[in-house]
Amino acid sequence: MLINGNAFLKTADKYHYAQGAFNVNTEEQVDAAIQIHEALRAPLFLQGAQLGNAFIGGKADFKNGNLDDIKKGADLLADYVAKKAEVASIPIALHLDHGLTFDVAKACIDSGYTSVMIDGSAHEYEDNVELTKKVVDYAHKYGVTVEGELGTIAGVEDHVFAKNSSYTSPLQALDFINKTGVDSLAISYGTKHGANKGSDIKLRMQIVTAIKEILLSEGIDVNLVSHGSSTIPQYIVEEINNLGGNVNGTGGIPIEQLKVAIGCGINKINIDSDIRLATTRNFRELGKKNPEVVTDPSTAGIYKLLAENEADIDPRTFLAPVMN
Ligand code: G3H
Ligand code: 13P
Ligand code: NA
Ligand code: ZN
Repeated sequence: MLINGNAFLKTADKYHYAQGAFNVNTEEQVDAAIQIHEALRAPLFLQGAQLGNAFIGGKADFKNGNLDDIKKGADLLADYVAKKAEVASIPIALHLDHGLTFDVAKACIDSGYTSVMIDGSAHEYEDNVELTKKVVDYAHKYGVTVEGELGTIAGVEDHVFAKNSSYTSPLQALDFINKTGVDSLAISYGTKHGANKGSDIKLRMQIVTAIKEILLSEGIDVNLVSHGSSTIPQYIVEEINNLGGNVNGTGGIPIEQLKVAIGCGINKINIDSDIRLATTRNFRELGKKNPEVVTDPSTAGIYKLLAENEADIDPRTFLAPVMN
């Protein structure tokens, strides 16, 4: 069953846990995610990013993707996930991650995504409000939930690059939610995108608590989202390097801190880099086992090998960070 974000996140809020949200770029990753969530009997929050959709749709220009490719990719991914969701034993949401424009969010809603993020955090506050509200007004007509972002999350992820973070202001969060009507809000409290988060991460739990308290005192039921939350397991980095990689300076968010953040009010935890690490490891292993294969990651070749070698999709790497 394909459902929107609220059903997941309201339950997470009520029972004080966080829903893991996982980025995918290929059908094989969708299959792996479904397989593992079914085994764990956990609901699945799948995310396709703007650039991920462009990649699936044809070609990524390694900036923000071209709208035609994004539309094509969103259609392919939404059709694929909808078919899988009909027979899956768990509920699934398909969410756009870091949509940067109204047109990209609209393309995903029109394709059948059940949830979208509009990330206007790089804009001036009033422009972020205006853009986000426009997406909410469109999305809610179709029962699609919307995640906004306020504050700047540091680090690099596709198109999203910010050198320094600026934490989310609790009062501004309240104003933003009142003005836009978003269903969930990505906040900046010390997490960072990418595989190099540093080695001394200290999440600012008071920010999560303060935002949650203000919202609760106003009777506002909006879910708080933690981006840049990969734990960057060092055993996978080691496996990559043992397979010929040279990945250095990596660091992730300690799982203990994520657990505290969940207690303070985080209801959704975004994971992309951990999956990229697992995928990198698997590509390297398959390349080593099949040195004769000439392939291109955007076509069937290596993904087919990946699918045929199911055992190489390592469930530890795929879900470990946020399952409890
Ligand atoms: O889910 C999307 C697939 O990765 C689409 O790619 O058409 O090259 O198989 P493909
Ligand atoms: P990571 O880079 O920590 O995996 O963050 C993922 C994310 O925030 C996706 O939106
Ligand atoms: Na494919
Ligand atoms: Zn993010």
